[in-house]
Amino acid sequence: MTHENLAIVILAAGQGTRMRSSTPKVLHRIGGRTLLGHVLASASALGSDLVRVVVRHERDQVVASLDEHPFAVPVDQDDVPGTGRAAQVAVEALPDGFDGDVLVLSGDVPLIETETFRSLLDEHRRRDACATILSAELADPTGYGRVIRDAQGMVERIVEQKDATAEEAAVTEINSGVYVFRAGPLRDALRQVTTDNAQREMYLTDVMRILRDAGRGVAAISAPDARAALGVNDRVQLAEAARILNQRVVRRWQLEGVTILDPQTTWIDDTATLAPDVTVLPGSSVLGATTVAEGATVGPDTSLVDCEVGERAVVRRSDATLAVIGAEATVGPWSFLRAGAELADGSKVGAFVEVKNSQIGAGSKVPHLSYVGDASVGEGVNLGAGAITANYDDVAKHRTEIGDHVHSGSHTVFIAPVRIGDGAKTGAGAVIRKDVPAGALAMSVAPQRNLVGWVQKNRAGTAAADAAERAQDSEKATHVGQEQDR
Ligand code: UD1
Ligand code: CA
Repeated sequence: MTHENLAIVILAAGQGTRMRSSTPKVLHRIGGRTLLGHVLASASALGSDLVRVVVRHERDQVVASLDEHPFAVPVDQDDVPGTGRAAQVAVEALPDGFDGDVLVLSGDVPLIETETFRSLLDEHRRRDACATILSAELADPTGYGRVIRDAQGMVERIVEQKDATAEEAAVTEINSGVYVFRAGPLRDALRQVTTDNAQREMYLTDVMRILRDAGRGVAAISAPDARAALGVNDRVQLAEAARILNQRVVRRWQLEGVTILDPQTTWIDDTATLAPDVTVLPGSSVLGATTVAEGATVGPDTSLVDCEVGERAVVRRSDATLAVIGAEATVGPWSFLRAGAELADGSKVGAFVEVKNSQIGAGSKVPHLSYVGDASVGEGVNLGAGAITANYDDVAKHRTEIGDHVHSGSHTVFIAPVRIGDGAKTGAGAVIRKDVPAGALAMSVAPQRNLVGWVQKNRAGTAAADAAERAQDSEKATHVGQEQDR
């Protein structure tokens, strides 16, 4: 259902002093989006084509963040401070003669869901109110504006924490910073708002008293989940909001059929997607645009950012960003997959292996202690322990191309650019500087020479020389004994 004749105004011009940050408050991130991004995501589902975002502090950064939300139009606030001024510039910027409802949202109140906006609007229209506040009952209302009701229970005004008497401060019904107004009365009321208060700002909340004094109906409805009314003013509240959002997201995926054994230590961004019968083990983060296909296991202690994980793949104790992990591939423990790592179906990347900008073919294995960068590895390949692609010559990065069914001996170094033909092998410790033809065995290490007695001669008196001496003596004794037995 869309709401006709609805404008949405999002207040995002404040500095956010209490964050003590060089990043504007509304651009701090939780659950894969900025605070403002969450508000926009929930609001956009209402289908209004009049969405205005009020900007001022670091306005260019905030405006740039709107690129992902082309329906949102920025409006600049001037020098006059306060939420009242912010709402005023936005309302003045609406098309002339707009006389619908204005839903006013705060860019720092990120957890309210579309459904709650809808019921607020429905209730507002049902009651034919001039203004309807989304309120919440909080055990500790510190910091929020309090909703003051008269003896009949009707909303009289909102009083800010800093302007409240002790009696008013004891009220536990708070203003969530989300309201809906009829455009005309809002416009009129805002013209009467002054900066005559503790903070010397134009308070949007003064509009309630002004409307009520003019005999207009002001209502308040209580948020279904009071925790969703949380406003983020400092980093403590930022962490609290992240936790609440995460609980919501984890629960949503659990109900969709994902096993998440430890919701406390599992972090899933609102932007990630998981299929049924995925298992996420403790200490894991599934972040950004990551998608995890059916039956895959992620964790324990794994972080995935913007990754694609295939069906029944297993990713244990690993860190991956912008990687594609094929069906039934296994990763970890302790693998590091960087941007452009593409692991085909059934492949394996094992312990202490780093892969960057490389394709690992179907069924191929890089099991132990390797670096694979800027390489393409064919199918059925086994890179022995310690294989390294030396992709960088201090000037440029070069590619290593490894064909199908290649087996490399332990500790092979591929000096890129280099190509290894299908079915070829390399000897242990080989340093591959030239292309290897299909089917060849490449060895670069000189045959082993043992310089007998070198240690005793050149390191006389050391523990090593003494040990060697003793070993030789006992070897001689054995020989003598063997000769005598014969
Ligand atoms: C505000 C409300 C308070 C409510 C609380 C809910 C007022 C006066 N108070 O207080 O009743 O309980 O939110 O979280 O409205 N902003 C602008 N321009 C400005 C100042 C602020 O756009 O000049 C924006 C901010 O970016 C922020 C929002 O308005 O997104 C709220 O501002 P903030 O200063 O955080 O208000 P609170 O003190 O939290
Ligand atoms: Ca706030």
